[in-house]
Amino acid sequence: MPSALPDGEPVPDDGALPSSALAGAADRPLGFYLHVPYCATRCGYCDFNTYTATELRGTGGVLASRDNYADTLIDEIRLARKVLGDDPREVRTVFVGGGTPTLLAAGDLVRMLGAVREEFGLAADAEVTTEANPESVDPAYLAALREGGFNRVSLGMQSARRHVLRILDRTHTPGRPEACVAEARAAGFEHVNLDLIYGTPGESDDDWRASLDAVLDAGPDHVSAYALIVEEGTQLARRIRRGEIPMTDDDAHADRYLIAEETLTAAGYHWYEVSNWATSPEARCLHNELYWRGADWWGAGPGAHSHVGGVRWWNVKHPGAYAAALAAGRSPGAGRELLTDEDRRVERILLELRLREGVPLDVLREKGLAAARRALTEELLQPGPYDEGRAVLTLRGRLLADAVVRDLVD
Ligand SMILES: C[S@@+](CC[C@H](N)C(=O)[O-])C[C@H]1O[C@@H](n2cnc3c(N)ncnc32)[C@H](O)[C@@H]1O
Ligand code: SF4
Repeated sequence: MPSALPDGEPVPDDGALPSSALAGAADRPLGFYLHVPYCATRCGYCDFNTYTATELRGTGGVLASRDNYADTLIDEIRLARKVLGDDPREVRTVFVGGGTPTLLAAGDLVRMLGAVREEFGLAADAEVTTEANPESVDPAYLAALREGGFNRVSLGMQSARRHVLRILDRTHTPGRPEACVAEARAAGFEHVNLDLIYGTPGESDDDWRASLDAVLDAGPDHVSAYALIVEEGTQLARRIRRGEIPMTDDDAHADRYLIAEETLTAAGYHWYEVSNWATSPEARCLHNELYWRGADWWGAGPGAHSHVGGVRWWNVKHPGAYAAALAAGRSPGAGRELLTDEDRRVERILLELRLREGVPLDVLREKGLAAARRALTEELLQPGPYDEGRAVLTLRGRLLADAVVRDLVD
């Protein structure tokens, strides 16, 4: 979720969607993203739409408070039911993200999930995930979530090295995320993910290997590994600009990616998206797959984005403004855009090229096809799938995925 919201046309007060967006909706899978915009402290690298108690003080009053948050978010889930109409439409995935969802009481997360179940119904095999910070959960909390219907937990580990965690301003101690994996398994969670960040200033190849080894010892069925992005306006960006800490170069990022791929593959994890590995097809994150494949999802919460049938909209960012809109019976939508066929074509290439299955070549235009032929000769695309009409990245292509995508969308 970017820190700045795009411009767009206004969202009507009742949140109504054009009829074109709802046509055929009952046949499309639907996911819910529920955003929790609170953190105990802000990590220096993070520009997600999240607020510490200090950042909220004096803004938004009682409405912005975390105590009322679950009820406010449930109001938006009820609004979603009205906007999407009464067609029977089971929800396939629910993903609670943040911020730090686990700063709320487990009962609050379970009530939010309950509202989705009550208003829409959950598919029998629905994937229900929450993100969790390792320092903010314990066995009782995890057991309450599992009992309340959550079946997947995604833990922000980032690194196993104390000095790397310190640069990232993470507050958990090394070893705690791995212990959480065991606690989640003991609580009955079928699926557990660990999030890692590589390329933090001061991290060596050996530090990164140690983090991967710690992941393998913990044995989650899913791993996400992201190159550290130094976002403008963050504390980390300021510290790098002042020369207090060095910037990591692109070569180090590429080396770390190759180490991750080698280590994870040898241990039985398979990449299925450039930054994601899973032990089996069932262990993939179905919710993210809905995003990547252009399905419908409703993002509830401040700053959350939604997409239904070619209409994309986004909510106001501040928790106070968000709660005020819902309290007044208005949609919290701040703006929306109706995607053209060309927008959807470009988006499809951007997202699907990063997947193991790649993107069909017939989505490309003449210039994009020429770029794909060049990418094939430069060993950025795999020859077998190419001959069968699909653009699928090689390992080298995955390292340069952003550049390949830029050429193919032309
Ligand atoms: C925004 S966090 C929310 C979940 C939870 N609060 C946490 O920190 O784990 C989700 C994930 O995004 C990734 N992330 C956030 N900011 C990032 C950045 N600037 N560069 C790379 N990864 C980032 C981290 O791996 C993090 O686990
Ligand atoms: S805990 Fe997660 S969401 Fe909160 S500031 Fe840190 S990275 Fe961002």
